[in-house]
Amino acid sequence: MTRSILMPTLARIGALAILFLAVRGSFAEDGSAAWLRYAPVPAAKYESVPSRIVVLGDSITERAAGAELMRGLSSMLGRSFAVDAAARGIPHEKAIVIGSYQALGLKATDNTQLDAGIAEYSIRFTHEGGKARILIAGNSPNAELYGAFHLLEEIGSTQEIPAGETQIASAPIRWTDEWDNLDGTIERGYAGSSFFFKDEHVLTDLQRASDYARLLSSVGIDGCNVNNVNADLDLLTSEHLREFARIADAFRPWGVKLALSIDLTAPQVVGGLPTFDPLDATVTAWWKQKVDEIYSLIPDFGGFTVKADSEGRKGPAQYGRSPADAANVLGRALAPHGGVVLYRGFVYNNHLDWRDPKADRARAGVDNFARFDGQFEPNVIIQIKEGPIDFQAREPVSPLFAALRHTNMALEVQTSQEYTGQQRHMVWLPSMWKWVLDTDLQADNRSTPVKEIVEGQSFPLPDGRSRPGGFISVTNAGIDANWLHHPMAMANLYGFGKLAWNPNQPLDRIIDTWTRLTWGNDPQVDTTIDSLQLKSWQVYEGYTGPNGMGTLTNILGYHFGPGIESAERNGWGQWFRGEEDGIGMDRTAAGTGFAQQYPPPLAAKYDSLASCPDDLLLFFHHVPYDYKLHSGQTLIQSIYDTHYLSARAAGKYVPQWMTLKGRIDDDRYRQVLQLFTYQAGHALVWRDAINDWFHWKSRIADAQGRVGRHDGRMEAENMTTGGYESVDVTPWETASGGKAVVCRSEAGCSLSAPINQPEGRYDVAVQYFDSWRGVSKFELLTNGKSVANWPANDTLPPAQFDPHLDGQTSTRFTVQDVFLKPGDTLVLKGVPDMRGELNAHSREQAAPGAIDPHAREQRDYREFAPVDYIQLGPNGGLTPQD
Ligand code: GCU
Repeated sequence: MTRSILMPTLARIGALAILFLAVRGSFAEDGSAAWLRYAPVPAAKYESVPSRIVVLGDSITERAAGAELMRGLSSMLGRSFAVDAAARGIPHEKAIVIGSYQALGLKATDNTQLDAGIAEYSIRFTHEGGKARILIAGNSPNAELYGAFHLLEEIGSTQEIPAGETQIASAPIRWTDEWDNLDGTIERGYAGSSFFFKDEHVLTDLQRASDYARLLSSVGIDGCNVNNVNADLDLLTSEHLREFARIADAFRPWGVKLALSIDLTAPQVVGGLPTFDPLDATVTAWWKQKVDEIYSLIPDFGGFTVKADSEGRKGPAQYGRSPADAANVLGRALAPHGGVVLYRGFVYNNHLDWRDPKADRARAGVDNFARFDGQFEPNVIIQIKEGPIDFQAREPVSPLFAALRHTNMALEVQTSQEYTGQQRHMVWLPSMWKWVLDTDLQADNRSTPVKEIVEGQSFPLPDGRSRPGGFISVTNAGIDANWLHHPMAMANLYGFGKLAWNPNQPLDRIIDTWTRLTWGNDPQVDTTIDSLQLKSWQVYEGYTGPNGMGTLTNILGYHFGPGIESAERNGWGQWFRGEEDGIGMDRTAAGTGFAQQYPPPLAAKYDSLASCPDDLLLFFHHVPYDYKLHSGQTLIQSIYDTHYLSARAAGKYVPQWMTLKGRIDDDRYRQVLQLFTYQAGHALVWRDAINDWFHWKSRIADAQGRVGRHDGRMEAENMTTGGYESVDVTPWETASGGKAVVCRSEAGCSLSAPINQPEGRYDVAVQYFDSWRGVSKFELLTNGKSVANWPANDTLPPAQFDPHLDGQTSTRFTVQDVFLKPGDTLVLKGVPDMRGELNAHSREQAAPGAIDPHAREQRDYREFAPVDYIQLGPNGGLTPQD
């Protein structure tokens, strides 16, 4: 029985040909179609594409492949296509034929290294006697579907139809993890609430879950873990499992397996046993019975993801047991059904003693796992975050990848931009992931790049076959129509799928295909977007934490805006040791010894100042502020310069984007323009916070005299105020001069200043704080005449109540082309939002691991129209930068 929501459509297709008439250009551009827009392409180029689609197999996934071809081709080529489903044989006439290698009389690659479960497909385009035929063969229904999607993306991006192309997935695990909670919130999700759960239940309408599986499948992702790694404790009750089966049904046509994150206390919490000790016989039996129950409901269940002994989650350590003990009990229960255990390598002590110079969170992966190498069951895979800390904008690759030789491994990356701008900044992460994948760890003095390790090739099984491993992306898509909030962010999910399928794919090809499919084939649009995306990681890194010292976001809060010292002097271990004498964590042999966890060639490279790369310097070394980098600059001057350059580069996204007006749809044009404008302003908040902090700490002036000097800036606390009062901002570096003003009068307050600048046209930027959910109102006037007004109603991440004035809430509004002359008066009026107190959840406000999902706290909407400063700058497409 199948409860799939796709079924009605597929059932209607039946075994008979059905005509599908294309409706051209009728889709709403809200981003929901992502890269599957199937916008019209020059049809003449593809006139030889046959109009008949013949599906040889009869599985639900093969039917989905046939339906998808019909949908995509008719929409792109503007003509009718027909599908023969469950056809008996290869037709003699022109046709697109899709089926297994066997049914098509073709042979799959004879590659004994490959596990039989690895997807492989081939596309052949032939013209015999004027008869065009496109054959799509796969070694599984999933593979056939991937072949269909590939053909569609080649046409959608106006490429040639492959005359003969074979593609093989790099590894069996290509999954996303979604950190959804049963109450409908999403941990570290920045695009609205869950489309799986609400109020402790699976949603009744799972159309979006099915649409999401289709998107995943279109880039070769075949597994989706739908719940938070900090799993709800009662997740495995029979009631919940029966509901989860409905999600699996929604995924099934698209060949996406459902997986679940579990909490190891389940035998106790759900099963009522006195213990959850993995080696206790009753616990072992409970897991076996529970797994059998899951498979009776979900026959193609993917497996479990486990977070244990980490950030407050309980685990085997409580009973003196090892990760292998815990993982193997689950592995043995899952093995008869073909399921796997993704046991997370993210195990560390978040109560480290910061006074101990040898303490080092980065060491935790190797310290906690290396000694159990070779002790894990064959279906257990260690899921390792790309770096040893936590998805920072730059950190070295985790040395755990090279410390395990007899254990299966998968790479975990984060499409959800937790530390990289939370989908309010554009950051194309595949640039970073490719850098990770290509990093050669040189284990055993041979080439062992991360990609080959997780593909299972570097340290194969004893019989020579590749180890099962792969790629996982923490994605956290939400109910925002476009899935991830920023229209540009879906390029990260697309890029993840492409790199997971083939980590050797060139980045420029990946981004160009995404751009064409998402935004159309206009060359100006494509060149502009490709180049913006390709440099966006370096730009973001450039205005946030420098030289490998971590993103420098507020790690005790939302991980979004700057909050530099939040990383220091606490148990979380993200320290960078910014002292009077210098800065950086000494992780050399003389320090914490972390560098020595790498194979010798890399250990030597990182340990020595002479060879440690500049961009990782402060991750490995404590150096004085005037330390000379390989680039020849001093560290401090390089920090100042990079932050000015990068914030300016982010500011230029706006005018670059504006050149595309009219070349893309208005809805998405406006949405991106708004986000780029926000990013331009927030990049300045980052720039100033970091530069001011370094200036203060190092006591070394910027050789170019920019830091601390802001021409055209009027500090709100120095302006003439009507009712506004001055307040200190914490941390101080997140407001200009460490101060802001707030208005507590319902009638509103004002700030005014005389203009001394020469007569001319100016951009006037108001830097203010926009907390969620209060909505203050602002109005800018010159000589009593209103020039602009706006509400402070941004949905800044993480769209949780936040009353603080700081680096998360600081934002700006720029009024362009304002005529000013000496003697004019500039006035800003602010009207606060005085709505009263409310109660609501506080889940996202806690530090990771300290989350009590049931905690409630007092909160209110009040927002006192807070202002930081007003900046005048030259008129023209940018928000003033000085
Ligand atoms: C980060 C994140 C947490 C998450 C954790 C994990 O620390 O902030 O919210 O639970 O990673 O990956 O387990």
